[in-house]
Amino acid sequence: MRTPIIAANWKMHKTIQDALDFVKEAKDDLNAITGSDKAICAPAVLLAPLKDALAGSNILLGAQNMHWETHGAFTGEISPLMLQGLVDLVIIGHSERRQMFGETDETVNKKIKAALAHDITPIFAFGETLEQNQSGEAAIICSNQVKAGLDGIQVDDAKRVILAYEPIWAIGTGISATPEDANRIIGSVVRATLGELYGEAVAQEMRIQYGGSMKPANVEELMAQPELDGGLVGGASLNPETFIPLVKAAAAARS
Ligand code: PGA
Repeated sequence: MRTPIIAANWKMHKTIQDALDFVKEAKDDLNAITGSDKAICAPAVLLAPLKDALAGSNILLGAQNMHWETHGAFTGEISPLMLQGLVDLVIIGHSERRQMFGETDETVNKKIKAALAHDITPIFAFGETLEQNQSGEAAIICSNQVKAGLDGIQVDDAKRVILAYEPIWAIGTGISATPEDANRIIGSVVRATLGELYGEAVAQEMRIQYGGSMKPANVEELMAQPELDGGLVGGASLNPETFIPLVKAAAAARS
């Protein structure tokens, strides 16, 4: 059975002190939850202090972006070499980076390959816009994004990728996809695409999260859907009171 993973995506929130306060409050509770992986994906400047603060726990640490080159004249960028050993995970291709920072399927693909080459697990995010959803294009858009992001990645590497289906219209809006729709896209579209690329057995092993307004009020019904392997969570991940219940619910749903 696939172990679910709930990953906090703090986006551009929290100072070092805020991050340390969160860990102080949440570390023991999160660490005690068995049956679900849990991660904090934080802004780059928080990663080193968080690594120290999370030591001795089973809470994974992730970055939110990185460049694909190991070094060079790329002002403001962070390389996989700098993240290797510091983080377990890196979010690649979040829609905010695609929409506001010029990321394309090609750069997403390069970054996923770079992460894998440096032993960092990519959380590969993709999803359709509201317009694409309303015109019935969600399936083809998601399938194409998955194929493009994984282009040239062989099966043994692909198995290490975590995918995150994030319908853009559900991110930060308070409106989540219906559990049934999320399950349908993840199962009949994304997992089916992975099956075409890597075979059915591998597709069944790979983890696919849902992201978009996951919160304590809807996590149980989302996690009741068999294809969802957890969540990538923005707003509700910022406070222990709303984040811890998500991890507990994911663990309970699969126990
Ligand atoms: P949200 O963000 O939970 O605030 O909708 C999810 C995400 O963007 O990863």
